[in-house]
Amino acid sequence: MTGPAGRLQGRRLALGITGSIAAYKAVDLLRLLQAEGADVRVLMTPSATAFIGPLTLETLSRHPVDADVLALQADSRIGHISAAHDVEAIVVAPATAHWIGAMAHGLAADSISAACLATSVPVVVAPAMDGGMYSHPATQANVDRLREFGYSIVDPESGPLASGMVGQGRLATLSKIVDATVEAVLGGATRAVAEAPSAATSRPVASRSDLAGRHVVVTAGGTAEPIDPVRFVGNRSSGKMGMAIAEAALARGAAVTLILGNVSVEPPTGAHVAVAVTAAEMESALRALTPAEGPVFDVLVMAAAIADFRPRSPSTRKMSRTDGLSLDLEATPDILAEVASRVRAASIPGALRPILVGFAAEIGSLYRATAKLQAKGVDLLVANDVAEPGSGFGTDTNRVTIYAADGPPEELPLMSKRQVAELLLDRVVVRLDARVPEAVSSAEERR
Ligand code: CTP
Repeated sequence: MTGPAGRLQGRRLALGITGSIAAYKAVDLLRLLQAEGADVRVLMTPSATAFIGPLTLETLSRHPVDADVLALQADSRIGHISAAHDVEAIVVAPATAHWIGAMAHGLAADSISAACLATSVPVVVAPAMDGGMYSHPATQANVDRLREFGYSIVDPESGPLASGMVGQGRLATLSKIVDATVEAVLGGATRAVAEAPSAATSRPVASRSDLAGRHVVVTAGGTAEPIDPVRFVGNRSSGKMGMAIAEAALARGAAVTLILGNVSVEPPTGAHVAVAVTAAEMESALRALTPAEGPVFDVLVMAAAIADFRPRSPSTRKMSRTDGLSLDLEATPDILAEVASRVRAASIPGALRPILVGFAAEIGSLYRATAKLQAKGVDLLVANDVAEPGSGFGTDTNRVTIYAADGPPEELPLMSKRQVAELLLDRVVVRLDARVPEAVSSAEERR
């Protein structure tokens, strides 16, 4: 075993196990991937559970096992979709002839094929079956189809098989599967974004895939804080800036979760969308993404305009004009500052801390931006003067200054929100790539 400074340090993987006798080897594979430093969650087909108990894998992976494509997680997220978005690679080992055939044809009857369809992260497939089944032209055609998807195939080996016969069908040596996984994760091999027809028509084809394997969370729009069942305290945010960031991140290969307040534009195809229209809902959505075991994203961009004040006791019945109205407002929690302090407190050895980006809509001057960057504990803060023509709410352009915790501010000219998004993501990618695993950085600090 490689120990804590392995080649997959801090990487999040899904291990998909299908119904082959070689399923028992998946336990050792799980442990080898963990020994390389990976955090591994397990997906199983129903037939795999006949060969090996989910409890074993749940205990060893320290994550619930998803063996039912229809089941929801405890936080009500769809298991295979959250796996598709939260991991940096999917390893399917062993992969049966049936599973390979289903995957080759896009049939998503189990959690593993559903996750593979929903993701653009690298997929590594290690087939295991009887020799005659593997050499059959149908299986060979299906394996070739998976290669066309960009999946790495770890060829099965020749030797004695479960049937007692000899042939090519034995699951590859586990170290070969681990090596292929390392190569896929570090090389960023990925399903091309442009291959999905809906993606091709709804967003520009990615010219680079520097966010492949990354999970980017973007909040967008304004929150609406109820006064009574029909009225709310809100703001003028349209959500356009956040949507542009989500769209740009998708085009660069990221898995994107969009948490939407009130918005006036459609979210891009391909993003996992959650709705959170009040500050309280936004807070709990972000809490779910930053559990005690550590955040489930690589980048958080907090572009939402969250109300700073909300009615302390919203009325449960519609207020009448004759009631008169005087609002007692309370301050909302600073959600971004809370996320930043949770993320820093988690400090899991070997994990890579996510990059945090805040926004600041100011009026007249940006003099408060540096203090906000520090107070919120973010890496980057994008500030704009919303009173300036072309820079306000609902416009398609923006003139921003990007403040950084590790360098001088960068004043950008007026440009489209999509261009702002691309430039911001360029700065995010540089910082993502420069991250050092927690244990290593704290060891260095002690020196
Ligand atoms: N934000 C937040 N929670 C709030 C208010 C804002 O997480 N209750 C986030 C916004 O999404 C944004 C950043 O903090 O990314 C800055 O928001 P802004 O309203 O400019 O700052 P405030 O902290 O509200 O400071 P002030 O009211 O003094 O302008």
